[in-house]
This record gives sequence, C-alpha cells and structure tokens, in this order.
Amino acid sequence: MKLGTLYLENRYILAPMQNVTTSPYRRFCRKFQKIGLVCVPMLYTKRIEKNPETIVDDLCKIEKERPISVQLISSDPRSLKKSIDYLESYKFDVLDINAGCPSKRAIKAKEGGYLLKDLERLENLVKIAVKNSSKPVSLKIRIGFEDSNNIKELAEIANNSGIDFLTVHARTVKSFFEHNPLNLDIVKKLKENLTIPLVGNGDIASPIEANYFIDYTNVDALMIGRESMGNPQIFDQIHEYFTKGKEILFRNDKEKMLQNIEIYKRCLDEFLNGIILPRNINEYKFMELKRNSIWLAKSIKNSAIIRRQISNTKNLKQLELVLNNM
Ligand SMILES: Cc1cc2nc3c(=O)[nH]c(=O)nc-3n(C[C@H](O)[C@H](O)[C@H](O)COP(=O)(O)O)c2cc1C
Repeated sequence: MKLGTLYLENRYILAPMQNVTTSPYRRFCRKFQKIGLVCVPMLYTKRIEKNPETIVDDLCKIEKERPISVQLISSDPRSLKKSIDYLESYKFDVLDINAGCPSKRAIKAKEGGYLLKDLERLENLVKIAVKNSSKPVSLKIRIGFEDSNNIKELAEIANNSGIDFLTVHARTVKSFFEHNPLNLDIVKKLKENLTIPLVGNGDIASPIEANYFIDYTNVDALMIGRESMGNPQIFDQIHEYFTKGKEILFRNDKEKMLQNIEIYKRCLDEFLNGIILPRNINEYKFMELKRNSIWLAKSIKNSAIIRRQISNTKNLKQLELVLNNM
C-alpha cells in the first residue's frame, strides 16, 4: 500500500511508545509477522542538540529495521532544523513530528499536544521539517487540544504543508487515555477533509475493533500500540481477519510466555551484538527483559503472582532465576 510517497507492505503500523518500542521490541514484534512500518518513539530536539550521544540506543542499527519512522518533538524551529540536520546521516524512511504528547512536560515546553492549540507554531514547525528533511515527513496528532473545534484548520495545515500522511489518535490531548472513549466521528470528519492519507489510532485491541475503526472512519491505515505489549501477534490477527475472514483469538499460557521471552532474549542479543551503549549493558538487558516478561505474562493462569515475582527481581541474575524456575 502507499502512504504518500512511501510504499509499505501492509497497512499496519507499530506505534511509537517511549520506553516500550525500543529496537529489541520492534525486532521482536516483527519476528511474528510483517509490519508495514515501525516507529522510533519521540526524541527531544533539545536533547539531540545538547547530548546527541544519549540517543545512541534509539538510533543505532535503525537501517536494519526499515521501513522505520523517527519521531521528533520540538517547540523551536531552530532546534528542529538542527536535529533534522543531525539525523540526516541515519538511514530511515519517515520523519514524524509529534503534535499529540499530552504530558505536563510537553505542554509546559510548548511542544507535542500543545501545538494543537497553537496552530501557527504547528504549521511553522511542520513546514520547517518538510523543507529541511530529505525523507518524507508525517505528523502525529490527537483530535484537538480540549475539543475538536479546529479540526478543519488542522486538516488544511496537513493538506498544504507538504507532509506525506497524517496519523491521528482519536482522543483530545486533555482526555489522556482510556478513561475517555475515542471519538471516531471526528476522525471520520478529519478524513473527509483531507487530501493526504490518514492513519487511525487508538484502543485497537482485536481484529473486530480494527475492522470497526476502518469501516467507520475510512482511514487508510491503522497504528497499534498498547495491545502489542504482551500480544505481539496482534498485527497478524488483524491481517488474517481482513484477508481470510478468520478470527484468531488471543490465547496465552506459561509455555507460550516462556517461548516468547526466549525470542525476546534473542532480539536483545541481536541488537546488542557489536554495539557500544552509553550505559551499562547488563542493566539495559535487565530492564528490557523485566518489563517485557511482565507484559508477556498477560492473561496466563496466576498472572498476578508471576508478574509480582518478576517485578521483585533486582538484577538480571535474579530475573533469570525466577524465569528458569517457572
Ligand atoms: C508508554 C507510552 C509511550 C508513548 N510514547 C509515545 C511517543 O513517544 N510518541 C507518540 O507519538 N506517541 C506516544 N504514545 C502514544 C501512542 O503512540 C498511541 O498513540 C497511543 O498509545 C494510542 O494507541 P493504542 O491505544 O493502540 O495504544 C505513547 C503511549 C504509551 C502508552
């Protein structure tokens, strides 16, 4: 399928999630199925300017993960341009601009979701990205800041700024996450006002929900985040449903969990092979394996007990002992 000038093998995208969709995680999800595009979570342009060496683990080896998108979060045109220049030496496929992050830090810094209430600043940043990036540019938004009254203006900016596609999380910035339902009516309206492709995102946790999202809104592609945590096969489940009408249900048990943890370890080793990280490798491995083991225990018998045991471990040795004794 095509998203602007970008050709993708399918219309499923692994969402950018800070401290989740790391390189080992993206590799892990791809071990189970093809995924059209995977995303590096947001990189702060101020951080790139001050300490570019701290983003080594985010970017090293990304050329082996293509098609891949790299996301920047910024409030400042000069800092954005400098970061784009810095990224030019890396091989990736899409430069994404974050205009949806709802964190207090982002809003205070006038970046991420803040941009949805300062459309002039948003438009300026997007134009700078398009002008300075040699790669296609995309924009990731929510359906508005507090409400969606400016959705038509947002569509106009997206249409006229030269970006290849837009991604929308179907909530406002103020509504954070699951406590508030999605608003697919606004996504539908946004799609009707766009001349560029739209990727839909939010709460997709099954093939039925994926089907409903597309049917209702007519979006061109789907982005999935949290459901992949513990269910790396979600993309395959959706694909099977769309292509063969087959609904594969998510099932997990201890054996499958341990198998998946083994696969994760291999992805970690693959990633770590031959690279130098600006931090302790054992600590990195431990944190990666611990949080993913917890997610991979999703829905198994005694899941709460097992998760607690894993979460009480303090180092790699303890974690491996717990996993080996399961
Ligand atoms: C832990 C976490 C970290 C996230 N980090 C980012 C990020 O770096 N950039 C971004 O655009 N969105 C980020 N998001 C939002 C997701 O990309 C996605 O829009 C959101 O989770 C809704 O999709 P889902 O319901 O499929 O998870 C993050 C979400 C979570 C849960």
